[in-house]
Amino acid sequence: MADQKSTNITWHGGQIGRAEREKVLGQRGCTIWLTGLSGSGKSTVAVAAEAELVNRGKLAYVLDGDNVRHGLNSNLGFSPEDRTENIRRIGEVSKLFTDSGVIVFSSFISPYRADRDQARALFDSGDFIEVYVEADVATCEGRDPKGLYKKARAGEIPEFTGISAPYEEPEKPELVLDTANQTVEDSVAALVAYLEEKGHLS
Ligand code: ADX
Repeated sequence: MADQKSTNITWHGGQIGRAEREKVLGQRGCTIWLTGLSGSGKSTVAVAAEAELVNRGKLAYVLDGDNVRHGLNSNLGFSPEDRTENIRRIGEVSKLFTDSGVIVFSSFISPYRADRDQARALFDSGDFIEVYVEADVATCEGRDPKGLYKKARAGEIPEFTGISAPYEEPEKPELVLDTANQTVEDSVAALVAYLEEKGHLS
């Protein structure tokens, strides 16, 4: 929990609630929390799933680690404390988007179990869907789409997840995407099927 520094503040409810917004959108909002190593395929799957849903007339939106760190979280680095704050803020942003009725894909390494659990705790049951985008270090290093593993091995990036910083695998994710052995299309299909089954698309 971050320090509560603001005082004398009051929560204001609106005239319109989440249910009315969701009725307009014809869907039920949620946060699909994609966790996994850099290069595991989180962003690729998130972007493809977002496109699939929007093409079906659903409102989806991707929140991505690299992108959010350009703006909202540009003052955070990769120490354990900064990663915790990164995930805390994104958890809150994801919650707001979910309340707006949007289907959110939150794509962050989020290496610490406790940070992911803190994010989950912000949500009502069923609104937070943890998805482990599973690919081991060797697979991610083989892909190395941004050349970061090479730099990390050369000692040019300190605290690099999977090399010199830990990644704690989810214990009970709602879904696992084995991206070493399945295509992006397979992963998107699994996500869409899950959302359909849980009633988020109607
Ligand atoms: S998290 O650990 O705080 O969840 P986040 O998902 O926001 O990380 O950002 C990860 C992205 O930042 C990676 O995909 C990579 O492009 C970049 N990056 C830069 N330095 C590091 C580092 N030390 N460890 C991991 N990713 C890094």
